[in-house]
Amino acid sequence: MRIKDLIIDDRQRGVFRVHRSTMTSPGLFEREQDFIFNRCWIYLGHESEVESPGDYRRRTVAGRPLFFARGKDGQVRVFLNSCPHRGALICRRDEGNAEVLQCFYHAWSFNTQGELVGVPDQEAYGPYFDRNELGLREPPRVDSYRGFYFVSFNPCVEDLVSYLAGAREYLDLIVDQSETGMRVVAGSNKYNTKANWKLLAENSLDGYHLVPTHQTYVQYIASLGTDESGDTMAARPPGVSRSLGNGHTVSVNVARNGRPIAHWHPLFGEAAREPMAQVRQRLVEKHGEERAYLMADTSRNLLIYPNLIINDVVAITIRYFEPLAPDNMQVTAWHLVPREESDTVLASRLDSFLTFLGPGGFATPDDVEALESCQAGFRATETEWSDLSRGMLKSDPGTSDELQMRGFWRQWHANMQGLSKAYVQDGQPTETESATLLGNAD
Ligand code: FES
Ligand SMILES: [Fe+2]
Repeated sequence: MRIKDLIIDDRQRGVFRVHRSTMTSPGLFEREQDFIFNRCWIYLGHESEVESPGDYRRRTVAGRPLFFARGKDGQVRVFLNSCPHRGALICRRDEGNAEVLQCFYHAWSFNTQGELVGVPDQEAYGPYFDRNELGLREPPRVDSYRGFYFVSFNPCVEDLVSYLAGAREYLDLIVDQSETGMRVVAGSNKYNTKANWKLLAENSLDGYHLVPTHQTYVQYIASLGTDESGDTMAARPPGVSRSLGNGHTVSVNVARNGRPIAHWHPLFGEAAREPMAQVRQRLVEKHGEERAYLMADTSRNLLIYPNLIINDVVAITIRYFEPLAPDNMQVTAWHLVPREESDTVLASRLDSFLTFLGPGGFATPDDVEALESCQAGFRATETEWSDLSRGMLKSDPGTSDELQMRGFWRQWHANMQGLSKAYVQDGQPTETESATLLGNAD
């Protein structure tokens, strides 16, 4: 099948279908590496993860082993984790602090600026042996936005701010909630899912599945005796979905189950009620009622194309997924919190995070099951197409519609055809492409 025909995007009839070979084909998986992961900006990590000189963190980004470290000079640098001598992984721990990293194979050592500072028996090399030529290599492009670091293996990639397009404003809304900056809490959740990585991009912004898939959680919330008890699809406030350009999309809801930043809920316990009210008051004073409303009283699921999700919902989760095979991905989730947060609120936040999004929480096992079930279903190859048409003819699709997924898929389709931007067909009505922030979501 030609790449061009993998997606049916008929905006007049409101039909959007994706061919399921996109989820199973090894050839398309390889093409994604070349046309997407080698060309876009890909998330690496957060500046707070390497707070002090010598701190380092290991990552896999676009299939490459990398690590990033804060040098003695305070600068964050990113290195390819491969010894310039004969290739061994130099950084062999996920995190740590070191002045010097020594390759275990022949003991060459490198400082956190990437310079080769030690070679055993260097005399055996000739007079032209130059340590300066044998430092650690860096990816062609590294940049950060408000503490979030990205790398690109495409030297000609557009600048990060342009790439982030409308997603920037939503990152701002997340970061500005804090008085003194955000930090990633130590530790992460890491798990493999036997499903295509794009299924998680879809699932992370899919409001349609919430009630049927997460029945147990919905019932648990209802059991707390709140006014959420009558939660049905029909009773939920609509929320909105936005396509933000470059494949980034967002779904925004009126905060429902409480948000640790300022929106109290019985889930957080009485002790957290007062500190949360104070946070909200501070946000109003600093940012005005309207922006404070967006920060504290709406929640957002943000997809930064291609493989980063930030859920600013019951907690702020950074979720990164690395494709391993057409039917396998590794998911890592970190927890982002305001630095100044009180212990009481932080405890509520961590508890809420693990309750819903933790690997053993209410949501994650349900979602893993759903994704792996889809992947298993794709073996019935005679059912060729998946349908993502929901809300396509609406003027303002909601979070239970599928605009969020269509925005992702259109960019994917453009990239896979070698185009850098999604192409809008002539003479067809376009779906909302908006970089504007949500107003009052009620
Ligand atoms: S491979 Fe690293 S020192 Fe030889
Ligand atoms: Fe879910």
